[in-house]
Amino acid sequence: MTQTHAQPERGPLEQALGAQERGPLEQALGVQTEATLLTALDRSQLPKHVAIIMDGNGRWAADRHLPRIMGHHRGIDAVREVVTVAREVGIETLTLYAFSYENWRRPATEIGQLMLLLETYLKKEVRMMVKNGIRFLAIGRRESLPPPIVKLIRRVEEMTSRQKEMTLIVALSYGGRAEIVDAANKLVQSVVKKYRAGDPVPTVDEALFSVCLYTGGVRDPDLMIRTSGELRISNFFLWQMAYTELYFTKVRWPDFKRKDFLLALLDYQDRERRFGLVSKPTSSAHGPTGRTKKQI
Ligand code: FPP
Repeated sequence: MTQTHAQPERGPLEQALGAQERGPLEQALGVQTEATLLTALDRSQLPKHVAIIMDGNGRWAADRHLPRIMGHHRGIDAVREVVTVAREVGIETLTLYAFSYENWRRPATEIGQLMLLLETYLKKEVRMMVKNGIRFLAIGRRESLPPPIVKLIRRVEEMTSRQKEMTLIVALSYGGRAEIVDAANKLVQSVVKKYRAGDPVPTVDEALFSVCLYTGGVRDPDLMIRTSGELRISNFFLWQMAYTELYFTKVRWPDFKRKDFLLALLDYQDRERRFGLVSKPTSSAHGPTGRTKKQI
């Protein structure tokens, strides 16, 4: 059975906000100024680790009849903006999923362009990272990246290794299943090295396994943002996202601005994280922060 629904007319405000891309809450909050959103943000309830699947560069370009690379170029501007605002508000760790292991199946020209963009970004931004106390880390199967990029990554990691204000992790040649397999192999190798005939068979627990992941020592993400409307996690942080709050927005990555990031943080602050436990009693009109969305 097909049902037709009358489409509500879009006013100039909705059009300006891109009503098809922003949901009702995003629209309502989106009219607020950045200063209002910042005031509404409870600095004591920030997610410590935010992970982002930056999706929609290609579609952003296609919407404008531009080559895909233009979407990636504008995507870099969004990366700069989000790194800046995350550092300003006090996010401890920001992970950006930039290039998946599956992305190697893209046309060679696009891969080459992405590597060039990454190279330019790292060369340009390393000074900004040091100046702003940002430590850079790359995770993924880096051995499959072009050797000059691997060298550059190592250099940026070294140059920023003493920075403590925020950690910026970029997932490159990354796959969640590959990471789990790599961790299992790492464990097997270390056991085989130490094992002597007659020793009891060693057992593995979650803590030990976590340490063997690329993110060993980094806390799990509290919030995961995915842009461009796809409702899936695409082989990202399969282990780490067991209790992560998920936030999906239709906004394409190149259009994801400071305010969009703040909206995601505010949405997070309106959730109750239970980690499998029972709910704390709260008034039904209020979210876990004790604040209604109307108060924002
Ligand atoms: C997703 O859009 C985006 C990517 C696969 C690449 C993102 C990479 C960058 C912005 C450059 C390097 C990053 C950093 C952190 C310096 P898509 O191409 O999958 O878009 P589509 O799904 O609309 O085709």
